[in-house]
Amino acid sequence: MGSSARNQGVDSGAGAGVGEESWTARGGIQLMLRSVQAADQTGLRAFIDGLSRESRYFRFLTGGRISDETIEGFVSHRPGRDAAVVVVTRDDDGAESIVANAEYVVNADDIAELAVVVADDWQGQGLGRRLIRRLQQMARASQLRGMRGDVLSENRRMLAIMRDCGFSTRRNPDDSYLHEVNLSLQNEHAQRQAGDHWLPRDWFAAN
Ligand SMILES: CC(C)(COP(=O)(O)OP(=O)(O)OC[C@H]1O[C@@H](n2cnc3c(N)ncnc32)[C@H](O)[C@@H]1OP(=O)(O)O)[C@@H](O)C(=O)NCCC(=O)NCCS
Repeated sequence: MGSSARNQGVDSGAGAGVGEESWTARGGIQLMLRSVQAADQTGLRAFIDGLSRESRYFRFLTGGRISDETIEGFVSHRPGRDAAVVVVTRDDDGAESIVANAEYVVNADDIAELAVVVADDWQGQGLGRRLIRRLQQMARASQLRGMRGDVLSENRRMLAIMRDCGFSTRRNPDDSYLHEVNLSLQNEHAQRQAGDHWLPRDWFAAN
């Protein structure tokens, strides 16, 4: 999502709290999703530098080297407000390698601006979808008003995933190279409440 979900934070650290999650990927490799830590800066630099030109372009709207300030931004989110997560593998000695990164930065309208990128060798194995779902859960738990992002119009995969995850997508009226993706969380909240209201009062009563 282009470069829009850039750091605006002041504190180093993990951002909004994240429950760790581990699972086994294709080939039996163990993966773990966890929040970003300040110590991840070096790992994130290596991860970003290892991306193909195309992936870097889709994520940052440039195929060139990503600045140190941008990398610092990945570990400098406002705790309890923004969110930043990584997926890592661990070798036999416990050393971690980052294979995916996702984040959102909450803007002044209480909208989470999200961005995600998966290492080229790991794309197409469900990581992107899992990360977006996780960011959605976190934004809901934080009672944010919605989520948004800018996606290059040629990024069919990302647009397909966003639609699957309930986002509306539309061409940016000011920039035909970009699509804007949006998700209102307020409506969901209202719908959930309406649904709850519909249930009879004794619905959860013991039989
Ligand atoms: C976009 C990205 C984050 C998706 O993550 P991922 O782990 O590769 O995606 P997933 O495996 O979770 O999902 C891929 C889905 O896209 C679909 N897909 C793949 N290529 C597609 C295409 N050309 N058109 C439409 N859908 C496509 C697949 O069918 C798959 O759906 P399925 O799970 O139902 O089979 C990842 O590819 C990436 O990092 N790309 C480069 C950076 C980037 O584009 N970031 C987003 C910035 S806006």
